[in-house]
Amino acid sequence: MAPRVGCFLLAVLISASCKVVTSSDPMCTEKEANKTYNCENLGLREIPDTLPNTTEFLEFGFNFLPAIQNITFSRLINLIFLDLTRCQINWVHEDTFQNHHQLNTIVLTGNPLIFMAETSLTGPKLLKHLFLTQTGISSLEFIPVHNLENLESLHLGSNCISSINLPENFPTRNLKVLDFQNNAIHYISSKDINALEQATNLSLNFNGNDIKGIEPGAFNSKIFQSLKFGGSLNLSVILKGLQNSTIQSLWLGTFEDTDDQDLTSATFEGLCDMAVESINLQKHHFDGFSPSTFRCFTGLQELDLTAAHLKGLPSGIEGMNSLKKLVLNANSFDQLCQINAASFPSLTDLYVKGNRKKLDLGARCLEKLENLQKLDLSHSDIEASDCCNLQLKNLPHLQYLNLSYNEPLGLEDQAFKECPWLELLDLAFTHLRVKASQSPFQNLHLLRVLNLSHCLLDTSNRHLLEGLLDLRHLNVQGNHFQDGSISKTNLFQTVSSLEILILSSCDLLSIDQQAFHGLGKMSHLDLSHNSLTGDSMDALSPLKGIYLNLAANNIRIIPLHLLPTLSQQSTINLSHNPLDCTCSNIHFITWYKENLHKLEGSEETVCANPPPLRGVKLSDVKLSCGMTGMGIFFLVVFVFLLIILLIFSVKFLLRWKYQHI
Ligand SMILES: *[C@@H]1O[C@H](CO)[C@@H](O)[C@H](O)[C@H]1NC(C)=O
Ligand SMILES: *[C@@H]1O[C@H](CO)[C@@H](O)[C@H](O)[C@H]1NC(C)=O
Ligand SMILES: *[C@@H]1O[C@H](CO)[C@@H](O)[C@H](O)[C@H]1NC(C)=O
Ligand SMILES: *[C@@H]1O[C@H](CO)[C@@H](O)[C@H](O)[C@H]1NC(C)=O
Ligand SMILES: *[C@@H]1O[C@H](CO)[C@@H](O)[C@H](O)[C@H]1NC(C)=O
Ligand SMILES: *[C@@H]1O[C@H](CO)[C@@H](O)[C@H](O)[C@H]1NC(C)=O
Ligand SMILES: *[C@@H]1O[C@H](CO)[C@@H](O)[C@H](O)[C@H]1NC(C)=O
Ligand SMILES: *[C@@H]1O[C@H](CO)[C@@H](O)[C@H](O)[C@H]1NC(C)=O
Ligand SMILES: *[C@@H]1O[C@H](CO)[C@@H](O)[C@H](O)[C@H]1NC(C)=O
Repeated sequence: MAPRVGCFLLAVLISASCKVVTSSDPMCTEKEANKTYNCENLGLREIPDTLPNTTEFLEFGFNFLPAIQNITFSRLINLIFLDLTRCQINWVHEDTFQNHHQLNTIVLTGNPLIFMAETSLTGPKLLKHLFLTQTGISSLEFIPVHNLENLESLHLGSNCISSINLPENFPTRNLKVLDFQNNAIHYISSKDINALEQATNLSLNFNGNDIKGIEPGAFNSKIFQSLKFGGSLNLSVILKGLQNSTIQSLWLGTFEDTDDQDLTSATFEGLCDMAVESINLQKHHFDGFSPSTFRCFTGLQELDLTAAHLKGLPSGIEGMNSLKKLVLNANSFDQLCQINAASFPSLTDLYVKGNRKKLDLGARCLEKLENLQKLDLSHSDIEASDCCNLQLKNLPHLQYLNLSYNEPLGLEDQAFKECPWLELLDLAFTHLRVKASQSPFQNLHLLRVLNLSHCLLDTSNRHLLEGLLDLRHLNVQGNHFQDGSISKTNLFQTVSSLEILILSSCDLLSIDQQAFHGLGKMSHLDLSHNSLTGDSMDALSPLKGIYLNLAANNIRIIPLHLLPTLSQQSTINLSHNPLDCTCSNIHFITWYKENLHKLEGSEETVCANPPPLRGVKLSDVKLSCGMTGMGIFFLVVFVFLLIILLIFSVKFLLRWKYQHI
């Protein structure tokens, strides 16, 4: 009884102080009306009355709810998702969620749980995801298993669990994810694994547990979607323990701070006795890498050796004919040929990204990879004066090539002749040197996406994009145009199939009226972060129904005759322009208010002039620019005087002329 009285007193105290809290405190933010609310970190001690009964998704983390019970959420019976991260919850009382039949996810991460009542989770019959990460749990007996038949994921990371001994009646039939990372599990028994028998396609995470022993046969003829043993110090123990299992994806990587032993070919012997499709060995050190290291890798389809301190892969590796995907990111190759690609003849995906040394592409290093479809060589300090036909010799099926973030590349004429099937080419942030009046992309008839952002392009080369018959998406962000202007004849005229064109941050001052003629398929044009004025908008008249971004330019006034051009577009972003809110811009301002539904970023679309209106949203501006009676009178007088002046000057002129005949 004592704790109840205590709780009651506490509840009284809390509700007393709560009145003060709710009246002065910031409110929950509404993300979707009547449905989704965020009340994080507001110092709340109860569910505020302002939340509607219809709330379905509630983020309530970082508040203060030492005990939760049947009344805490009783009003919110439509809840589907409830996040209670770090609310200092100690007690989860009986029937807390009794009427929450739709509740699908409960997040209790970071709460120092002392007690969960046996019936605390009854009610949500559809509960699928339960997060008990960092809750101080030391035994799985702590979790009330009542009504968890539909549970799909159970997250128990960063606790003090030393055994995965599931309670007898623990419902595992629908379990897909069981996460034990960063606990104190050192031994796995057959009984532990047998308890999971009903879970098909399970992903089991033991990262950060240093497994020191697995009972022989524990994994015999078991099938898993994924198993993670990252950070275990002795990999042979694990690979031996997994004998006769079938595993889709096996994660055996290690972490920066793990002081594990070097891997040898003996380490991998266990791998010969199991069926694994994909294996990750990131950040390990290999003690001599010989063909025999790969002896048991022959069934693999994917191999990830990210940051494995490799300087090369040995030649003479045999039997790796099933390997489809090889990840060699963040290693230290000097030359691409050092990966001995010929050992992996079926590769479709190859990643050599973020190489730690300057990578020389060499010549013909990948020529045996006839099936290669995806090649990522980004961030690898690659430099080449004459790219890329010799370097990428014989890649007839390559569809994706990423050469972004490299050193200067000199592109020859038809530089990608060896990979005519390219659909995506990313050269962003790589300085390109193209000989004038040539197109390096000439033969890429199937290319759809080309990223040339920040490439220091010679944009005056009108032939640059010649031959790109099917190009849909072109990014030239951060390149410069001569005199800050896109002229009448320009490089875009050869790519008439363009749908998306990114021209942001190109220091543009103007665009010729005819510049975009022939780009009738365009649906998205980004001209943001330039210095364009209203006058450049003439160039947009051939475009219809597009998304147009003109944010952060130098647009002050948009003349009347350009408004139809804007009207015919579907969405326009005019934010962060120094817009003029005087009567000289009244037509635009009127148009703006009538077309608010087409405008995005209207919060940031504000006046810059006149000073009293600076910072006022354009949609809130009220101007009256009609002629007053007085104004009309003065205008009439002014015109009258002008006419008189004109008559007199004509008279004077004629007289002067006759006098001088
Ligand atoms: C939200 O609820 C209120 C009151 O029940 C109702 O008037 C309003 O239309 C609802 N809004 C939406 C977007 O469902
Ligand atoms: C909550 O539980 C108490 C007793 O345990 C009960 O008297 C009360 O009716 C319950 N409230 C609701 C809303 O179910
Ligand atoms: C919300 O639910 C509470 C309790 O279930 C009820 O008393 C209240 O009238 C409801 N509010 C609205 C607006 O329906
Ligand atoms: C197994 O799980 C993975 C991911 O968890 C999912 O992509 C896959 O479709 C599932 N396979 C089956 C047969 O359910
Ligand atoms: C693995 O399967 C083989 C053949 O079915 C069997 O002889 C062997 O004992 C099994 N290994 C373990 C560790 O159960
Ligand atoms: C790793 O475990 C194996 C037994 O599976 C043992 O033979 C070997 O000595 C262990 N290695 C280290 C470095 O402890
Ligand atoms: C190419 O690689 C860079 C850097 O690794 C990455 O940011 C970019 O998204 C990649 N490009 C594509 C099209 O995936
Ligand atoms: C280049 O553009 C493509 C398409 O927009 C994009 O997927 C890719 O991430 C971009 N590359 C970089 C390095 O940003
Ligand atoms: C308008 O464009 C700017 C610049 O590209 C962007 O930062 C902003 O998010 C856009 N506004 C909206 C509402 O998308």
